[in-house]
Amino acid sequence: MTNRTLYIVVCGAPLAARAGDGLKAVRANGWDPYIIPTDAALPWLADQDLRDAPVITGNRKPREPKRIPPADAVAVVPMTLNTLNAWANGSAHTYPLTTLCAALGSRTRTVAVPFAKHDLAGHPA
Ligand SMILES: Cc1cc2nc3c(=O)[nH]c(=O)nc-3n(C[C@H](O)[C@H](O)[C@H](O)COP(=O)(O)O)c2cc1C
Repeated sequence: MTNRTLYIVVCGAPLAARAGDGLKAVRANGWDPYIIPTDAALPWLADQDLRDAPVITGNRKPREPKRIPPADAVAVVPMTLNTLNAWANGSAHTYPLTTLCAALGSRTRTVAVPFAKHDLAGHPA
């Protein structure tokens, strides 16, 4: 059986420091992962072993071919308050948000793992 394609959107919260562990787990379960980090996630990814998973940042150029295969599923881990609200509003001003909005619009299976300390999680949005 061929592996399935999983986009992993990683946002700027401390759980991003475990991205390498997540990659190991998804590979063991038959997925080909592609990391799509927000800018705020990059410091947490910097010193990690990302197990040669492709890290996709920024939009492709207008005539550049697609860089990655279509997703069979998408995971947002961790998902910040900021990204959750932007996604819910349909904001697509970054590549990770465009990816999430497209996943919702195409009804691609998506798992979102919110991660916020008490003060942020208490925000009414
Ligand atoms: C040390 C540190 C910890 C943070 N922890 C969280 C968190 O747990 N949840 C959260 O929603 N934002 C957290 N933030 C704030 C986000 O990084 C910030 O809102 C950022 O703009 C999110 O951008 P993104 O949604 O594009 O990743 C943290 C920021 C820092 C510097």
